[in-house]
Amino acid sequence: MSSFMNPGIDNPVIDLLSRHRSIRKFNSRPVGDDTLKGLVKAAQCASTSHHVQAYTIIQVKDSENRQAIADLAGPQPWVAQAPVFLVFCADLTRLVAAARHHGVPEEIGWAEQLIVATVDTALVAQNLMVAAESMGLGGVFIGGIRNDPEQVCDLLNIPDQAFPVFGLCLGYPEQIPDTKPRLPVTQVLRQDYFQAPGEKENSSGLPKEVTNFDGTLHNYYKNRDSNLKDQTWTGQMAELTGRIIRPWMKAFLEKKGFFRR
Ligand SMILES: Cc1cc2nc3c(=O)[nH]c(=O)nc-3n(C[C@H](O)[C@H](O)[C@H](O)COP(=O)(O)O)c2cc1C
Repeated sequence: MSSFMNPGIDNPVIDLLSRHRSIRKFNSRPVGDDTLKGLVKAAQCASTSHHVQAYTIIQVKDSENRQAIADLAGPQPWVAQAPVFLVFCADLTRLVAAARHHGVPEEIGWAEQLIVATVDTALVAQNLMVAAESMGLGGVFIGGIRNDPEQVCDLLNIPDQAFPVFGLCLGYPEQIPDTKPRLPVTQVLRQDYFQAPGEKENSSGLPKEVTNFDGTLHNYYKNRDSNLKDQTWTGQMAELTGRIIRPWMKAFLEKKGFFRR
């Protein structure tokens, strides 16, 4: 484990969390159905808003659909190659069905429900990732499926009141990349206020700790084992913020019955 990720406290769970790195190359060892079911059962124990469990996870086994999703996501070849590929859907269909079952008006399309369903989906997914890592598996989330969410819905028969949030490739790692540095904890954990009165900023509003992190990440990118880059964190974030990314998402979500009001 790289020292910058050392959390300063020590137990097997924290050690596992600190060793996370995304895995994009897998060996041929299969992941059994029972293993996957066990992982999903453990992941389902995640906290869930109002106990709604507003998600459905689709295991994509069909090789043509896998390839189509790998292509639309980038292409990202690991989507086709991973022993397991899952698509995590935010899913309010059971809620709507429950309302119908009990003859209650269906109050759907609210922004709050989009948050509830997306947060629930992310929590179950991260639990699944950690559970998988605890068994020696590795994986990578695939937001690239939102490059063409309509096609993903068509391929996987995803109805209204549900939408694909991201995918997850899983398998036994064929690589052990270096762990990627994170921002200093003092940047993300604050005391009493979001921003302390008088906190020092440079002229663009960036705290010094963040510009210092540029050096840390630059160093990591220049020295890691593969895919070397000459980039800083603020440079990457500026590039990201200067681009319009997936502008179709609002209309897509509205079409699927989310975020209408
Ligand atoms: C919601 C989400 C979507 C992501 N989408 C992709 C993706 O499409 N392709 C990819 O290679 N990595 C993807 N990632 C992985 C991130 O790039 C990665 O987690 C981040 O750079 C930190 O690296 P690490 O996971 O190795 O620590 C995604 C991560 C998240 C949380």
